[in-house]
Amino acid sequence: MKYLCPSLLSADFSKLDEELKEVEKAGADIIHCDIMDGNFVPNISFGQSVIKQVNEMTDLPLDVHLMINEPSRYIKDFADAGADYISVHYENNFHLNRVINQIKDAGVKAGVVLNPATPVSVLTNVLQYADFILLMSVNPGFGGQKFIPNVLDKVVELKKMIDEKYVTCKIEIDGGVGLENINELSNAGVDMFVCGASIFGAKDRIDTIKKMKALIG
Ligand code: DX5
Ligand code: ZN
Repeated sequence: MKYLCPSLLSADFSKLDEELKEVEKAGADIIHCDIMDGNFVPNISFGQSVIKQVNEMTDLPLDVHLMINEPSRYIKDFADAGADYISVHYENNFHLNRVINQIKDAGVKAGVVLNPATPVSVLTNVLQYADFILLMSVNPGFGGQKFIPNVLDKVVELKKMIDEKYVTCKIEIDGGVGLENINELSNAGVDMFVCGASIFGAKDRIDTIKKMKALIG
């Protein structure tokens, strides 16, 4: 099962309810929500109270991507706000295994995120515990950036690691994903596709979502 995940960051917050209903109706599977603290990444977005409201506006599952320092302090808040998936970065976590368990104990699917320059080899001892791995294909902090091409090789390498270990971990990709590269990414082994600008910035979002869904199969 492959999932298309529009990213809230690119939505128009003055009419969020309408925006969410539109992508939901068009066939989106999960809403990706970027939490940024202006410290781990050079941008600030929104917090748990917005997630709680978004959860009331849509029936779709919420995928909360934490780009914040000390994420363990906020896992319960986001779980209570309605997160179905929570991912934390490898780069700012000394106790990754503990945070993964904390997320799972809160009844939420746990993911580990890697920045573009972090090799997938760091996942060797965490893969069997994570529900999904999010590979960043842009440097985190902003929507609308260009896909960094060598992340495609990371997808292939990660898929191989997953198959060799017989684990069921899913692969998610985030940043610069659109109609031009989504099929190639799907063929390489991606299961969850985060799309911000390519969906919310499209002239015809419904048509774009339908085309994307057909391309990921
Ligand atoms: C970037 C965020 C992304 C962002 C992707 O730091 O993690 O989720 O919304 O946006 P696009 O699809 O526009 O690159
Ligand atoms: Zn994200």
